[in-house]
Formats: sequence, C-alpha cells, structure tokens
Amino acid sequence: MSNAREFVRVLAAENAAFWAGKDVRLEPAAAPAERLRLIRYRMRQGVYNELRSVELIAAWIPHVPEREIRDLLPGQLDDEHRHYRLLRQRLVDLGEDPDAYRPLPEWEALFDWLVACRTRPTLEKLAMFQFAGESQSCDGFETLIEVARDVDPETAELYRTQILPDEYRHAAIGRRALQLLADTPERQAVARAACHEMNERVFAAYRAHRERADRDASSGPDPQ
Ligand SMILES: [Fe+2]
Ligand SMILES: [Fe+2]
Repeated sequence: MSNAREFVRVLAAENAAFWAGKDVRLEPAAAPAERLRLIRYRMRQGVYNELRSVELIAAWIPHVPEREIRDLLPGQLDDEHRHYRLLRQRLVDLGEDPDAYRPLPEWEALFDWLVACRTRPTLEKLAMFQFAGESQSCDGFETLIEVARDVDPETAELYRTQILPDEYRHAAIGRRALQLLADTPERQAVARAACHEMNERVFAAYRAHRERADRDASSGPDPQ
C-alpha cells in the first residue's frame, strides 16, 4: 500500500476497531448519580491531562523539523492551555479545588513517556499523540457529552462547544502528518507500530483511571 491517503484511512479504521468498547472511563448505561460521579472524576483527571498536553507539545516543537507540521503545533499548544483553564474553572465553579487533585500515576507515566519521545521521528510522534491519541480523545469526548447531557448540561456544553472542535482539529494535524510522511511501506509500518504502542499505553491508563475512580467511591468521600 503506497498511497499515503489510503493508508491513513485504513490505519484510522484499525485504531477505531482497537478502541471499540475499550473506553472504560464512563458507564453510559449507569444511573444518573453514578454517571455524574464518573464525569466529575474524568474532569479532575482531565485538568491534569490538558496541562501535560501543553508541556508535551512545547517539548516536541523543537524536534519537529518539518515546517508544514511544526507550524501547526503552537496553535494546538494554545488550545490545550485554554482547555486546561476552562476545565479548571468549571471545577472551581462546581465548588472543587482542582489543584488539590492528585493525578493518577499511570497518566503521569504516560505523559512522561510522551515527553521523552520528543527526539523520535515526527512520523512516530504524531502517529502516537495527534493521530491515535487525539482521535480517541474525540470519541471519548463525544461519549462524555452524550452521558453528561442530562446530569450536567453546562459541562456537556463546555465540552461540546469549547473543547471538542479543537480536538478534531488536533486529530487532523495527525492525519496531515501521516499523509505527508507515511509515503513508503517502511514508514507506514513505523506509523502503525507507533499507533499500536500508544493505544496499548492509553488503554492501560484508562483501566487504571476507572479502577481508582471506583476505589475512591467505595472508600467514602473523594480523597483529594
Ligand atoms: Fe485538549
Ligand atoms: Fe488536543
């Protein structure tokens, strides 16, 4: 398969197939109180994830020599920082102290690893974060919005209008990078392996996320 565009389409479908039924962070069929609990937990961890995304992109920019791609990254950095501030403020408005939240070690490790990947080729980096990671984020946010619509409409609207459109743009940066750079069978194999690596790591973080959300719930009030 030498056509990069066709390759990107196939790889996106493979990633989507990997993720079918695997985002365990939310329980769409759960009772309203349970859904709200999981949404809140997701928002707390989300504040951390958005901030680490800013750090990650800042670390990567000097290591993306392809100008057409590098030029897109400062805009993404700006978006992630805005998401961080919006989510943080929403939690403050809900009476929480977002800065007291202790991030999940598995998410910390995931972002530490991604930051350390900065010297890997642009094709691998963007296959991992923007293409695989951000595409899955979009699906995750779509679910979150759906699940939050009745129990927390204001938060659902925040995600729908202020965050999700940006995340679709970030996923498009990943597709653009692959269309540009995954132009030989060898490079396509590299991109596919990078997606696989990322998907497995993110899935492990999702599982840990849900385990801790449930553990916190069974051990009484949220240990902040
Ligand atoms: Fe974001
Ligand atoms: Fe993003």
